[in-house]
Amino acid sequence: MIAGPAVERSVAGLRARVAGWRRTGARIGFVPTMGALHEGHLELVRAAFRACDRAVVSIFVNPTQFGPREDFESYPRREAHDIAALADAGADLAFIPTVAEMYPAGFATAVSVDERLTDCLCGAARPTHFRGVATVVTKLLLQCLPDEAWFGEKDFQQLQVIRRLAVDLDIPAAIRGLPTVRAADGVALSSRNANLAAGDRARAPALVETLRMVAARVADGEPVPAALAAGRKRLADARFDRIDYLEIREEDGLAPVAERPAT
Ligand code: PAF
Repeated sequence: MIAGPAVERSVAGLRARVAGWRRTGARIGFVPTMGALHEGHLELVRAAFRACDRAVVSIFVNPTQFGPREDFESYPRREAHDIAALADAGADLAFIPTVAEMYPAGFATAVSVDERLTDCLCGAARPTHFRGVATVVTKLLLQCLPDEAWFGEKDFQQLQVIRRLAVDLDIPAAIRGLPTVRAADGVALSSRNANLAAGDRARAPALVETLRMVAARVADGEPVPAALAAGRKRLADARFDRIDYLEIREEDGLAPVAERPAT
């Protein structure tokens, strides 16, 4: 039988565990998650474990990053499954705080990252999302104080926001990104996929196929606006009725790429 990770639900408990490991000279790797863990999360845990001596995983469905009409209530929660998966992946500690532990009565602070990074792309349709993400990730990093923290490139804008805040707030943790883990049909693994209706899941591969098609057309020399128009048409043909965004942005700083970058 594989021993499970220790479970801590309080910040004090997390800090005591990490401090004990630090006294032995251990390097701490940290993977913040909202649970309903899948292979993408477990790759992050394995990477943290390869790079560090101890791997800590937080599981917290953070209410402040959900808008009023978003899916906070229906977001998948699978604590027993998650703890078993973390045992298999070799994680040392699961930090599973309550909402009251993270946001006690009187909580009145938010971390807000420059709008050039947070108002575009996902932030355009979800105006308060990145303030919630930045606030909770700052808290988690300060609670755990890891040497390295690992995030998926699937949420690329989120990764850039977190990189920015860690530098700007002098948080002494290296922020690491890992490539997106995909299902056999190319769809990015995501906890929310569990809530997709069968028809929506069946349509989902068209999304990654479109992204790959647009990238290939731009790489072949097609101007960015024409490649994006072809991408929008392909999504419409695949019955994506509302497109939040389809854009090409600079990796660093997320500025729009208006024309094909010089090759
Ligand atoms: O990517 C996620 O799961 C969440 O946005 C994060 C980084 C754990 C913050 O709640």
